[in-house]
Amino acid sequence: QMKLLIVLAMLAARAASVEDLSGQTFTFPVQNNRAHARLITPKQEFRAPVCRTCRSFTDLGRSHSLFSLSTSGSHNSFLIFWNESDEEMEVHIMDQRSEFRGLDYKPNMWHSVCTTWDSATGLVQLWFNGMPTIRKYVPVTSAIPGTPVIILGQEQDAHGGGFDSKQAFVGMMSDVHMWDYVLSSCEIQSYVDKLNFTPGNVLNWKALEFKITDKVLVEPKSIVCH
Ligand SMILES: *[C@@H]1O[C@H](CO)[C@@H](O)[C@H](O)[C@H]1NC(C)=O
Repeated sequence: QMKLLIVLAMLAARAASVEDLSGQTFTFPVQNNRAHARLITPKQEFRAPVCRTCRSFTDLGRSHSLFSLSTSGSHNSFLIFWNESDEEMEVHIMDQRSEFRGLDYKPNMWHSVCTTWDSATGLVQLWFNGMPTIRKYVPVTSAIPGTPVIILGQEQDAHGGGFDSKQAFVGMMSDVHMWDYVLSSCEIQSYVDKLNFTPGNVLNWKALEFKITDKVLVEPKSIVCH
């Protein structure tokens, strides 16, 4: 009976940490160098290309991180970062940066940001509110090696830490998915239009394992009444 209890307790602990967050957001209401959500994936050694999506909503008038994936060898293994002074969305792959300009990143509205990187060609592309940018080359064609630490809400300047409140995200974030292959443009469009699409096989918002530190809330997405 003891054994059964232990097994049940283990099952309960595991089930509690994986949640279907459909229709929910992570709300980041404070600016500090602690509040974040760490997303857990059993996947590592991203050999294949990667593709990552999210919807975000903020009124920040400064630079901030939208997605921070570090490995022990590279703190910016896969980073999506808004650079306010240059008004550009930066995509960092293994510390190599590419910049995307001319995006209408207005405050106080939802934006969907999809990023693709193909390790076979080194090409990076952004889909901003469903519109594709040009493709840019980053000189990284190897895999992202090692165990990733994936963080929303902060930017990692160390593996799993080194946060700076001036780069923290304040606002809402939802529908975060990540794949270890590049989605077709039709699938990206389905994501943007909130139609059916294949959920992420690295991170899946509908079965997300995560750990919250400090003030981050899971809330229903606010619906605007007409
Ligand atoms: C924004 O980009 C400029 C030019 O590349 C760079 O010097 C600056 O450090 C960037 N800002 C941040 C906050 O990273």
